[in-house]
Amino acid sequence: MTVAVDGPAGTGKSSVAKHVAAAAGLFYLNSGGFYRAVTWASLDRGVSVDDGGSLFEVSRTLKLEIADGRLTVDGVPRQKELRSQAVDAAVARVSSFPRIREIVNSHLRRIAGCMDIIAEGRDMTTVVFPDAEVKIYLDASLESRARRRFAELHREIPLDIIRRQIAERDEIDRTKAVGNLKLAPEALYIDSSHLTLDQVCDMVLREILSHNHTTGETGQS
Ligand code: DC
Repeated sequence: MTVAVDGPAGTGKSSVAKHVAAAAGLFYLNSGGFYRAVTWASLDRGVSVDDGGSLFEVSRTLKLEIADGRLTVDGVPRQKELRSQAVDAAVARVSSFPRIREIVNSHLRRIAGCMDIIAEGRDMTTVVFPDAEVKIYLDASLESRARRRFAELHREIPLDIIRRQIAERDEIDRTKAVGNLKLAPEALYIDSSHLTLDQVCDMVLREILSHNHTTGETGQS
């Protein structure tokens, strides 16, 4: 089974997907990690993130696999490197190249073909898994997303800077030529601005259960 979760930055997609994965026996597939892997490998090889041709060459030859539940880059888990400031600053640009998106999408589909997954990103329900059995669009107001991030960062970065960064990321996500953020009409829309993580997870789990009841699936196909 494939559960696809879309939504803008800072809506809690990854927390929700991780919790739902554990509760429903699904593998949590973080699509952003694949863009981060291409970005990290390109920076590591001295490739400019504006050089689409070289980025494509790096992404084409990169071995991206799931091993022991973690994404590996050429056989090595790089969790820490993928979350570095340098990757944070460059990944939106890298993910805007359509040819890179095609490569990442083919990795995601290959992995989804081997196991039951919950995948989260910006285009999971519309582009990558248009046939996903369950589709969720997680939204929240700019203000609540900024406040959550502010708390996560232990109030070390001023709220207005965080608010501006999120608004800028929203703009990039909305206006990307390919893979831009869209609401699939059949997706369950959840505005989490005034909901707790548990409440959102319950709504997603109910949606999965109702799909399984309709089709007679057990959740593990
Ligand atoms: O979710 P994240 O912060 O790890 O995502 C990293 C970057 O990749 C972010 O700029 C959005 C982009 N991304 C994307 O364009 N499409 C996806 N399916 C997932 C992430």
